[in-house]
Amino acid sequence: MDVYEAVSSRHAVRAFTQRPVPKEALCRVLSEAAWAPSGSNIQPWHVYVLTGAPLTELKKLAGERVAKGDPWDEREYEMYPAALTSPYRDRKSAFGAKRYGALGIARGDLEARQRAASANWQFFGAPVGLFLYIDRGMGRPQWADVGMYLQTVMLLLRAEGLHSCPQMAWSVYRKTVAKVLSPPKELMLYCGMSIGYEDVTVDQPRTGRAPLDETVTFVEGSVLQSHAR
Ligand SMILES: Cc1cc2nc3c(=O)[nH]c(=O)nc-3n(C[C@H](O)[C@H](O)[C@H](O)COP(=O)(O)O)c2cc1C
Repeated sequence: MDVYEAVSSRHAVRAFTQRPVPKEALCRVLSEAAWAPSGSNIQPWHVYVLTGAPLTELKKLAGERVAKGDPWDEREYEMYPAALTSPYRDRKSAFGAKRYGALGIARGDLEARQRAASANWQFFGAPVGLFLYIDRGMGRPQWADVGMYLQTVMLLLRAEGLHSCPQMAWSVYRKTVAKVLSPPKELMLYCGMSIGYEDVTVDQPRTGRAPLDETVTFVEGSVLQSHAR
C-alpha cells in the first residue's frame, strides 16, 4: 500500500468486527510510528493500549456511566472554540448532518444523537482501544506533534489492513479511563482511539473535504512544474 492509498483509505470507522488484532501488528505500527516528527525530537506522546479484560472493564464502567446519565467529567481542554465561526461551523454541521443522517436520525433529535454517540464509549465494537496522553506542561506545538503521531499511527494501521477512529469523546470520561489505566498525575488525556478490522457490512458514510483553493494558497514566484501521478 503506498502512502496515497493509506491516506485516502483511512477514515473514521465506527463499526468494527470482533476479529482479534495480532499483537505483533500493533507492535510494528507503534514502533514505526515513533518515527513521527516532533519539535526538537521531544516525542511528547504517552500511549496506552488496551485489549481483553481491561478493555471489557473500561467499557463496562463507561456503559454504567452512560446508563446512569452521569455528568461528564469537567473539561481539561475545550474540544472546540466556544464561538466556532464560519467556515468551520458549517463544516461541523455538515459532518453532523451526514453522520447522523446516515443513521436515520433527524437533525433536532438530540436524544437519538446522544444514543448514537454513546457507541464511542464501547469503542464502536473494536477489540483494541488506544489512549493518548500528553504532559500537562506541554504547549500548542507539542499538541501538534501528538496530532502528527496519531495520524502516523492511523496510516500505519492501514498498511496492516486495520482501521481506526480517533476519539476525543473519551476525554469526558477521563476519570473512568484513569481508573483502569492509573496514568501518572502529570499526564492529561487527549483522546482515545478504536482499532480493529472494519465491519464492511455496515454502511459508513464518507466525509468530504473543502476544495483545495479554500484551504491552500499558492504564492507562486515561477510556474510550478506539473507532475501527473
Ligand atoms: C483528534 C480527533 C478526535 C476525534 N474524536 C472523535 C470522537 O470522539 N468520536 C468520533 O466518532 N469521531 C471522532 N473523530 C473523527 C472525526 O469526526 C473525523 O476524522 C472527521 O469527521 C473526518 O472524517 P474521516 O476521518 O472519516 O475522514 C475525531 C477525529 C480527530 C482527528
